[in-house]
Amino acid sequence: MNFKIAVLAGDGIGPEISAQGVDVIKAIAKKFGHEVSFQSALCGAAAIDAVGDPFPDETFKICQEADAVFFSAVGDPKFDNNPSAKVRPEQGLLAMRKKLGLFANIRPVETFKCLLHKSPLKDELIEGADFICIRELTGGMYFGEKYESDEKAYDTNFYTRPEIERILKVAFEYAMKRRKHLTVVDKANVLASSRLWRKVAQEMAPQYPEVTTDYMYVDNASMRMIAEPRFFDVMVTENTFGDILTDEGSCISGSMGLLPSASTGTGTPVFEPIHGSWPQAKGLNIANPLAQILSAAMLFEYFDCKAEGALIREAVNASLDANVRTPEIQVEGGEKYGTREVGEWIVKYIEEK
Ligand code: IPM
Ligand code: MN
Repeated sequence: MNFKIAVLAGDGIGPEISAQGVDVIKAIAKKFGHEVSFQSALCGAAAIDAVGDPFPDETFKICQEADAVFFSAVGDPKFDNNPSAKVRPEQGLLAMRKKLGLFANIRPVETFKCLLHKSPLKDELIEGADFICIRELTGGMYFGEKYESDEKAYDTNFYTRPEIERILKVAFEYAMKRRKHLTVVDKANVLASSRLWRKVAQEMAPQYPEVTTDYMYVDNASMRMIAEPRFFDVMVTENTFGDILTDEGSCISGSMGLLPSASTGTGTPVFEPIHGSWPQAKGLNIANPLAQILSAAMLFEYFDCKAEGALIREAVNASLDANVRTPEIQVEGGEKYGTREVGEWIVKYIEEK
């Protein structure tokens, strides 16, 4: 296949993990005979500094013309600590999602056997947990009407029926391909928007008779997720709830640095780690590149290149088994590998396979 990939490395640890992910894509392309071309583009704080816009038109154009976007992270403390900043790096990420119509964010939560002990949760509780959170990504409070003054402020949790239907369709289809269990997470006992979600889900469920569909309030779901994570197969939820629940999900895997994601919809799909830009670690070569590398696996799988995805996953597992790990997941007394060294080890594994 021919792939044109837009590389948006962004801020903080973004460029470091991006470089490792790109090298893995190159190694896979070489092994499987794909032609891949990369085009880098600015986003986030780096883009604000360069051109005053966190998602410049030129970047948008490069994304539109690509087959996939390989995204890393945006965010910079100089904006976090300034509530009156007019433009923020995160707006670049939101603009990208909106402009590319990426309404479905697929966030798998898995455990790695050798990392069970890294989770703050008990091993026996999380062993075998394997679910996917499908987060609606272009609606809800993130994009609804907002007002902000010194005296009052609001964000509107706005959803239309078509927006709900299309994300639920994605969720039901994922459930069909997996263990056929869908949990619709909402707050229908309080929120009107959630009641519409639940109503639409109840109307659609009969079209998927093989899927067991259940409904759970988000407060309960957040508890169930850590008390009994194996309960879940596919969960689907609105933008804000999905944002919160997937950070919680990373505690099951043991590190934020392990979870990849895919954002899909009407435009070019984006593959990105769920973690942020970790500015404190910038340039230190300590960030875990695995979430980014696993995002590359999701990229290939999206294009039906299953063997390519599988080899990346095999290489990642092999690196963990060989204790080639970044500091936050290294075993006690184990040698500490940097971002680059972990990436290089994985590339070598792929080349020698
Ligand atoms: C995520 C991030 C973003 C979000 C931020 C950086 C705007 O936390 O991708 O989960 O809230 O969606
Ligand atoms: Mn988040």
